[in-house]
Amino acid sequence: MKGRFLINGETWELEFPPEATLLEVLRSNGFTEVKHGCDDGLCGACAVLLNGKPVPSCQVLAATATDQPIVTAQGLGTVHRPHPIQKALAEAGAVQCGFCTPGIVVSTYALLQKTPDPTEEEIRHALDGHICRCTGYVKILEGVRLAAQRWKRAK
Ligand code: FES
Ligand code: FES
Repeated sequence: MKGRFLINGETWELEFPPEATLLEVLRSNGFTEVKHGCDDGLCGACAVLLNGKPVPSCQVLAATATDQPIVTAQGLGTVHRPHPIQKALAEAGAVQCGFCTPGIVVSTYALLQKTPDPTEEEIRHALDGHICRCTGYVKILEGVRLAAQRWKRAK
C-alpha cells in the first residue's frame, strides 16, 4: 500500500506492506536513528513523536500514522547541530553506547514542551518506558534536569 508520511517537517510518499510497523517504515527509509530494540513496546528505543506525543513506533501500524506529524530525534537535532536536550545529555555523561538516546531525547522533548519545570517524579514518569543498559540512569536523570534548567532559562 501507499501512504503520505510527514516526517521531520518533510512529506514522504511511501510504499509499504499493510502489516508494516511505523518503526519498519522509518528505518527502511533511512531514519536509522530510530532504534530497533525489543519490538514489544517495552524498551523505548524506537520512540518517536506522533502528533507531539512519544510513542513506541514498533507498536504503531504504519498505516495508522499517515498524514500526521512524526518527529524523530534527528528531526530535533543532529550531531552537527544538536538540540539543547541532546547537548545536555551528552554533557551529563548520559550517552554511552547511545542506543537508548534517540528515544530518551524525544520523550524528554515531549515532557519539557508540556512541563518546562518538571519534578523529579515527572521526569522519572516520562522516562518510565526507556531502558538503558549502560548508564544506570543517574546520568540520564542529571541530563534531563540540566536540559530542563536550560529550557526554563531560554523561555
Ligand atoms: S523496539 Fe519498540 S519499545 Fe522496544
Ligand atoms: S547509553 Fe547504552 S543503552 Fe543507554
